Amino acid sequence: MDYRHRMPFQQVDTITVGGRVEISSISFSTPVPFPQQVFPPQSAFPSYPGFAPQPGFPAQPGFPPAAPVVPYKNFISGGLQPGRTITIQGVIQPSATRFHMNLTHQSGIALHYNPRFNENVVVRNTKQWDKWGSEERGGGMPFHRGQPFTLTVICENNSFRLVVNGMQAHNYKHRFTPLQSINGLEIGGDVQLTSVIV
Ligand code: GAL
Repeated sequence: MDYRHRMPFQQVDTITVGGRVEISSISFSTPVPFPQQVFPPQSAFPSYPGFAPQPGFPAQPGFPPAAPVVPYKNFISGGLQPGRTITIQGVIQPSATRFHMNLTHQSGIALHYNPRFNENVVVRNTKQWDKWGSEERGGGMPFHRGQPFTLTVICENNSFRLVVNGMQAHNYKHRFTPLQSINGLEIGGDVQLTSVIV
């Protein structure tokens, strides 16, 4: 949805969230020119005009958290199961060729999710030992060079659902079915990460 500005947005300096929700993460991305990071860990919040610590909002050590580094690798504790989601936020590099998100296990990659900007397609595939399967290339290309994105991977009974910027983008039927053995997340390529929630 769009909401037309009713006041100069530079004056907006506070976010509040209320009601019957639990907040698992809030992240901010600022359209700073590359190669600066979205949130340089060393300067973080206070360096942004409008984000200076306010009385009553003292700077908190460790907040906001340092941006995850690419290539990114992490364990998925307990492995995957239907209902489990992974949320990745980042910014595509302006001159990006490709990036990937892999869900891995001991003997391969259950899901290789690979936006390619030079081909304008998102390639999905599975790798067992050293052998790639057949690629899935249908559907749209919801990622754009230089743009921020949110990618949510929802593990369902029969497939992975890939939601990009709140819109269902792709569906990948499970080829590797011992879901609990899928215990690794890798992100690499021409992307900067803002936050990863496993
Ligand atoms: C290959 C590429 C791999 C992977 C694979 C997916 O051509 O080298 O990195 O993207 O396609 O099918």
